[in-house]
Amino acid sequence: MRTAAGHGDDAAGSDCSARRMNDTICLVTGANAGIGLETARALAARGATVVMSGRDAARLERAADEVSRSAPTGRVETLVCDLASLRSVREAAEQFRVRHARLDLLVNNAGLFLSDRRLTEDGFESTIGINHLGHFLLTHLLRDRIFASSSARVVNVASNAHRAAKKLDTDDLHAERRPYSGVRAYAESKLANVLYTRELARRWSDRGIRVNAVHPGVVNTRISADGDARGLVRVLWDLGRPFMLTPADGAKTTVHVATSEEGGSVSGRYFAKSAQVKPSRQALDDALAARLWDASERAVGVSASHEG
Ligand SMILES: NC(=O)c1ccc[n+]([C@@H]2O[C@H](COP(=O)([O-])OP(=O)(O)OC[C@H]3O[C@@H](n4cnc5c(N)ncnc54)[C@H](OP(=O)(O)O)[C@@H]3O)[C@@H](O)[C@H]2O)c1
Repeated sequence: MRTAAGHGDDAAGSDCSARRMNDTICLVTGANAGIGLETARALAARGATVVMSGRDAARLERAADEVSRSAPTGRVETLVCDLASLRSVREAAEQFRVRHARLDLLVNNAGLFLSDRRLTEDGFESTIGINHLGHFLLTHLLRDRIFASSSARVVNVASNAHRAAKKLDTDDLHAERRPYSGVRAYAESKLANVLYTRELARRWSDRGIRVNAVHPGVVNTRISADGDARGLVRVLWDLGRPFMLTPADGAKTTVHVATSEEGGSVSGRYFAKSAQVKPSRQALDDALAARLWDASERAVGVSASHEG
């Protein structure tokens, strides 16, 4: 585990007009690869302390070394957290709490697509378990550190794929009563990200905490690689790679919402291409957002969650 790293002069390629973040403590999940890695790099380049989180210690250390080298203005730490394990999420939150008295920016970025139904350690369907429920518990467990910040932001990395969700059944979050479809599970998990954003923004509005969701674009990362996606999804994804955004470009909307004045002035919104856009009709359903909240609390075993 890494708990500190280098300082230095302004990182090459950092945007000097962007907000400097020297006193900002950030936590990015899924920071060892893809969009999360580039988000961590961009934040470190602005001088932030970036806690890079991921499920695999070795991959995380390699990524942290890379960010430390390319953005030496920042301070880089690592935090192992497997979002497929509530025990791991609890341990990671505790480690963070021991190390830091406040959290200024939480980027719930980690995510995956699975062609086959898999279960997490706690028996959750893995897509909803990792993409939504793990982050739900992590955010809950870090709430006092977030409240301790004078200008905290939470950025949830969702996707335009949320628009493909036909119906989010909060009584069957784990797809036990229907045949599993990877496309459907992913779309529903991303809809959950947008609904959670809306409900969390409402609950934390009187604390001045800004909570927003982003669509990063279609980005050439490993998300559908490593055997997680098979068949037509894999073929179409691989064919599309040359036309996709680079991970650095894919991180831009997250970084915009995390660092811009606009991102600090609105809450409960959905962004794409660094601008506010309207999410799907289901994503604006407050009753559905409330039902998802209750179902999420029951799943991870907390109540009256996210309250001080
Ligand atoms: N790529 C796109 O076109 C696209 C479009 C819209 C939204 N998104 C969203 O963007 C986010 C980042 O995805 P990406 O495209 O950058 O994919 P990626 O390169 O595969 O990165 C995903 C990250 O999530 C981590 N992760 C996966 N399972 C985890 C677990 N159980 N616990 C902790 N971390 C875990 C991965 O760690 P490992 O390296 O250990 O697997 C990796 O660091 C996701 O939320 C995704 O849904 C992506």
